[in-house]
Amino acid sequence: MAVPQDCEDALRFLRARLCGFAPEALLILGSGLGSLADEVSADGGERPVAVPYGEIPGWPASTAPGHAGRLAFGRLAGRRVMVMQGRPHHYEGHEMAAIARPVYLAAALGARTLCVTNAAGAVNTAWSKGDIMLISDHIRLFGDSPLRGENPPGLARFPDMSDVYTPALRAVAHSAARDLGLTLREGVYMFFPGPQYETPAEIRAARALGADAVGMSTVPEVIAARHAGLAVLGFSLLSNMAAGIQNAPLDGAEVLQAGEERGAVFSALVRRCLAGLPKA
Ligand code: HPA
Repeated sequence: MAVPQDCEDALRFLRARLCGFAPEALLILGSGLGSLADEVSADGGERPVAVPYGEIPGWPASTAPGHAGRLAFGRLAGRRVMVMQGRPHHYEGHEMAAIARPVYLAAALGARTLCVTNAAGAVNTAWSKGDIMLISDHIRLFGDSPLRGENPPGLARFPDMSDVYTPALRAVAHSAARDLGLTLREGVYMFFPGPQYETPAEIRAARALGADAVGMSTVPEVIAARHAGLAVLGFSLLSNMAAGIQNAPLDGAEVLQAGEERGAVFSALVRRCLAGLPKA
């Protein structure tokens, strides 16, 4: 697959490090959810590789709290994975296209699926802090598209966004949640660029538009994944009720705390979904 021109150095670098290892899936671990990367193992004969983002040419740095900034390759739940332990965000100053680069790299290395996770604020008042939401669709009204600018040869200029979150993988997620005895919410994620949290009026507007959760990530990578032809599975850990729902200010520490409290069950769900991905 052709990659955007600004990915070519990184692709050469990673190919040299990987000695032929081809990931089946890219797993992006969001705020407070990075510990799953520690479970990446070398079983199957391949050695695991861990590369700090800073060593990869042109890789966007990730500076947010709870984001280790490391790329791991190896096996998880029996599948060959490329795992981003932490991700770059638009609010850190990255262009949307830079945030999307890892997705094109994963596709060029062989990945056919993106599994993306984040922490988000719950907009749906019937839900609770700590719930896990399977993303069914998203709303991106703010911020550039990651596809703005030159289009790599062979990729659609105007890609379809009808079934962005692959229905067959959402069925895998529901079945995994049932097996684990876990209540899995399903709903619409709305992107806000941040870094300030939303106002209560913005959250009322988001709800009126059909959002169930809000967050500052995920959408750029998902758009790039569909552009590159990857299947997509997305989960939000609802780390707090969104602004104005409870009579208290929002505090970023809640995001890391939710990761600590719900990280194990969240990781179990992701592992089970990886195991249930269709074989290529
Ligand atoms: N808003 C935006 N991003 C978030 C939130 C929120 O309430 N919680 C975690 N990430």
